Amino acid sequence: MKRIGVIFGGRSGEHEVSLMSAASVLEAIDRKKYEAVMVGITREGCWKHFEGAVSDIASGAWERSAREISPVQIKELADFALPILHGPYGEDGTIQGFFEMLDMPYAGCGVLASALCMDKVSAKKIFQKEGIPTSRYHLVYAEDVSQDVEAVMDEIEAELPYIVFVKPSNMGSSVGISKVRNRQELREALMLAAKYDRRIIVEQAVNCREVETGVIGNHHLEAAAVGEITAKLEFYDYTAKYTDDVGTEITIPADLPEATYEEIRSLAVRAYRALDCSGFARVDFFVDRDTGEVYINEINTIPGLTKYSMFPTMWKAVGVPFDKLIERIVDLGYERYHAKNNR
Ligand SMILES: Nc1ncnc2c1ncn2[C@@H]1O[C@H](COP(=O)(O)OP(=O)(O)O)[C@@H](O)[C@H]1O
Ligand SMILES: [Mg+2]
Repeated sequence: MKRIGVIFGGRSGEHEVSLMSAASVLEAIDRKKYEAVMVGITREGCWKHFEGAVSDIASGAWERSAREISPVQIKELADFALPILHGPYGEDGTIQGFFEMLDMPYAGCGVLASALCMDKVSAKKIFQKEGIPTSRYHLVYAEDVSQDVEAVMDEIEAELPYIVFVKPSNMGSSVGISKVRNRQELREALMLAAKYDRRIIVEQAVNCREVETGVIGNHHLEAAAVGEITAKLEFYDYTAKYTDDVGTEITIPADLPEATYEEIRSLAVRAYRALDCSGFARVDFFVDRDTGEVYINEINTIPGLTKYSMFPTMWKAVGVPFDKLIERIVDLGYERYHAKNNR
């Protein structure tokens, strides 16, 4: 029986979400088909082999009874890696590169796609080149912000009218992101974003509905149902994303004109291919409330996988239950590994 190494936790700000996602995934793994091996990464980056109850993962209790291992030992413990990690060091190509080094098959996107999807500036450049509509933006450097923030702001104001979003290029989970209405707020937002990344993206705000879909596949790609998220807060920030009591509503299928609905699914597939994704990913869009136009926001290569998360729910809506989804994702990881090794 193949041993699937589910890797959770990690050094990013999304450590807790990862624990919740991993617990759901572990419950969905078909134990008649696979043996599940649990490997947690602490916030400090220490790898641990956990053999206790799945119910001790989400609370963080797993850390106390888990045995410290060296990362390379994953290869002795498991045949396949299923990283359920979000953000830096999990979703950005670094751990994927580590599995490549170990010559170990793994689930989801490879090094390049993971890195591209994590970096908002790089992803935008490719979307533009491929003719996939995305909101206007201006790139600034943290270095320039610290040297002459007034000049940087003049440059931004000449390019984009308010309202804008200011984001570190490479972070995730809304860390360091601000919605900005005037020059004073812009200054603060730039200073904040500069703490997180060398490159900062300033984006035209879209008065939008937020919709997303899931894509799976390596070469033959399929899109799930389209779902809509309605956050009652100012924007879909970290708290809104990961707690279910702040009034985030999910509608699947999203109530959209048929043509828009299908446009989103086909743009999702094109975007997935454009960034060289494989396995699975969630593709997020904005639909302009005024014009109805669709803009791609980003691709999340390891989307939330809790029972309440969008990705599994959007697949369930088209007849793919969670356990089958996980099975497909594992199969696709093996398929990519064998295709690469048989060239
Ligand atoms: N250009 C934009 N127009 C309107 N809302 C935006 C824009 N950019 C970001 N947002 C809001 O901020 C949220 C987080 O931005 P996003 O780029 O998705 O960051 P993250 O990678 O942290 O998820 C989005 O889900 C949306 O609610
Ligand atoms: Mg997002």
